[in-house]
Amino acid sequence: DKGEYEHFMLKEIHEQPSSIGDTFRGRISIDKTKIFLGGIIDVMPKLTQAKRIIIVACGTSWHAAMVGEYLFEEYARIPVEVEYASEFRYRNPVINADDVLIAISQSGETADTLAAIKMAKKQGATIVGICNVVGSSIPRETHAGVYTHAGPEIGVASTKAFTSQVTVLTMMAFMLGRKRGSLYDELYKQLIQELTLVPEKIKHILRSEQYIKDIAETYKDASNSLYLGRGVLFPVALEGALKLKEISYIHAEGYPAAEMKHGPIALIDENMPVFVLATKDKSYEKIVSNIQEVKARNGKVIAVVTEGDQTIKKLADHVIEVPDCHESVAPLLTVIPLQIVSYYIAVMRGCNVDQPRNLAKSVTVE
Ligand code: F6R
Repeated sequence: DKGEYEHFMLKEIHEQPSSIGDTFRGRISIDKTKIFLGGIIDVMPKLTQAKRIIIVACGTSWHAAMVGEYLFEEYARIPVEVEYASEFRYRNPVINADDVLIAISQSGETADTLAAIKMAKKQGATIVGICNVVGSSIPRETHAGVYTHAGPEIGVASTKAFTSQVTVLTMMAFMLGRKRGSLYDELYKQLIQELTLVPEKIKHILRSEQYIKDIAETYKDASNSLYLGRGVLFPVALEGALKLKEISYIHAEGYPAAEMKHGPIALIDENMPVFVLATKDKSYEKIVSNIQEVKARNGKVIAVVTEGDQTIKKLADHVIEVPDCHESVAPLLTVIPLQIVSYYIAVMRGCNVDQPRNLAKSVTVE
């Protein structure tokens, strides 16, 4: 039931403060000092001693995996490889018994992801699932796993499943960091605290919906678009681009911001909207210069910034503010405005938002 909303996608976008809360409910202690993931207790020794973590997924879940890579390396100091399930399974990959393979899937039925875990399991790896649909095929093939508890996702374009996947990966990265000694106790507690603040901050972002809708109106007739981000926000750029292309059929590409000058900058002119993830973090100065590079070529910049940012406001055509947050949780906040922009552009173009052409909610054929 869509309730008061015109589409499931919009309903699911709005559910994110509560769906993310559902993902960490019962898994973070009341005093916000501990993380507890019951589903992976049995494999914790394997995970903490893993020489390498391989994450396999497809589509949006693959973007969540990319965020996971960044977080696992930053906080748990474990090397991570992120693989498209379809490529991994056919590549004769090198898999060792001390590798842990994490499979991420909303539906738990994606054929390539399922086949990838069966293969890695045969070769002795420990398999951990991060899935939304309880009792689906992937959780049945794994040694252990964490359900995302985002609730049923009906819109074909994934929104709340993505943020719940990222929430699970964030909890895992912090917990592993603590267990492996790469995160000291003070920081660990601060990071947990930051994660618990995310639902309220998303509610705050959702209050700018009308403002974001007006931005959508401005760019609804574009035929191309670019999405740029750095570090942990690079996968968010990829996800923003995927959301736009899959429901509005506007060509969109996501890039690490620094790669722009190695090719895509040639595309920039006054007709090119460029969405830039530019919240205050360690690459802030660099992203400001990337924005200047786009403006010097008359591109239109829509920047997602930290509340109160004055510098980018002067450079960009539009800024969308998100509340100040720790860098580790910035993907969860910055993806929200991109989902909203895509949703409204698709609606304004008369597209079938919940059932985009050629797409299925669960891809059970390879
Ligand atoms: C994009 C989207 C798809 C899925 C992909 C994987 O919005 O929904 O890209 O993310 O087909 O599906 P799951 O996560 O069910 O394995």
